[in-house]
Amino acid sequence: MPSRYRAPRGTADILPQDQPFWQLVQGTAERLCRVFGYSRIETPIFEEVSLFARGVGEATEIVEKQMYVFQDRGGQEMVLRPEGTAGICRAYLQNGMFSLPQPVRLWYLGPFFRYDRPQAGRYRQFTQFGAEAIGEADPAIDAEIIELLWRFYLELGLTQLTLQLNSIGDGRCRPGYLEALRSYYVDKLKLVCNDCEGRFQRNPLRLLDCKEERCQPVIAGAPPIIDFLCPECADHLSGLRRYLEAIPIPYAINPRLVRGLDYYTRTVFEVMPPGEGAQSVLGAGGRYDGLIQELGGRPTPGIGFAAGIERIILNLKRQGVKAPELPSLQVFIAHQGQAARVAAFRLASDLRRQGISALVATGQRSLKAQMRQADADGALFAAILGQRELAAGTVVLRRLADGHQETVPMAEVGRRLQAIKLG
Ligand code: HAM
Repeated sequence: MPSRYRAPRGTADILPQDQPFWQLVQGTAERLCRVFGYSRIETPIFEEVSLFARGVGEATEIVEKQMYVFQDRGGQEMVLRPEGTAGICRAYLQNGMFSLPQPVRLWYLGPFFRYDRPQAGRYRQFTQFGAEAIGEADPAIDAEIIELLWRFYLELGLTQLTLQLNSIGDGRCRPGYLEALRSYYVDKLKLVCNDCEGRFQRNPLRLLDCKEERCQPVIAGAPPIIDFLCPECADHLSGLRRYLEAIPIPYAINPRLVRGLDYYTRTVFEVMPPGEGAQSVLGAGGRYDGLIQELGGRPTPGIGFAAGIERIILNLKRQGVKAPELPSLQVFIAHQGQAARVAAFRLASDLRRQGISALVATGQRSLKAQMRQADADGALFAAILGQRELAAGTVVLRRLADGHQETVPMAEVGRRLQAIKLG
């Protein structure tokens, strides 16, 4: 009987039948990170609010509108983490990772929370796979991070993706650009949406990121930031492009690409699936050379990305990619009679100790019903234990695909199943 309780809006249950895709994605992330020399880190699901207000920026949509903020019982303002980079930089500082050889290469995979309007591919609880390389400014590390993200999609089997790249400059050249952007917009404010009027005052770079129809012609005519980069930022971008071309990784420079988090400097990038709008970005990231200092550390460069797992799985399904099936149950143990019941329970325990997946029938079901259950559980074999087998110290081992069966000594069942598996 269905209950009146539902999963909260914008959240979803990840059911057993969804697991093959999750395993595929997590396994690929784990394998690639090992190959690229990244170590796993997991930080708490909740942090102090001010970490994100400082790190991500007060005037960002995430901090202004999307954080799940709560006061704990001690009166502290906490937040369910809306993104991973600020927490990782906090952990880098707190755990003295600045004393390790730099850069420190880290990856993570876990849930994040944003109070947003739910729709296909946009949720209030979602999962990110992310990587961060902290402590190195060389554009080779930008290329490495982008290669890791790109290879992740390729190895999953996604096709027709595009990688967009831009540089948004640094503390030296960006102020000049923002001046130019403001002077361009100042006589066009009547043409743009209300939000853009606010952005003009508080966060002008985000003007370029508006999705409103009426703002598009204005955005199209805006001066490109690339023309305003200082020589160091321009060199950094050409260095990165050289590395990407050497691998090669196809990319398109998008001079209007900016990001929704304020910590970015220089490199920013996004990966898009074919023919989709902005809320379908599959993964994105960039450089954040000022963030560690903002959080109280010494000036330390960093770069990273995060990829939304739910969106990736949606696209894998759309593109018809099949996830490998998870291993089937090896044996279901059916039994008849009171004495056989306990022997069957012991046999299941023995088999599991040998690493063989085994279920044993429970309740008071007929042998026929137990065999139906073996099928329903997807077992490869049924081991049948009745009075006669119990007396002889054997079981009947039946291959469920074709009904072929043999009698095997009880003590040999494990070895027999292993041999069949290897054969
Ligand atoms: P972000 O662009 O906010 O960046 O999020 C990265 C990815 O997370 C998005 O491209 C998308 O795939 C997924 N995502 C974001 N919000 C949602 C949502 N509401 N529902 C489903 N998926 C979502 C960051 O979070 C940065 N921390 C990335 C980064 C790491 N930059 C440097 N290092």
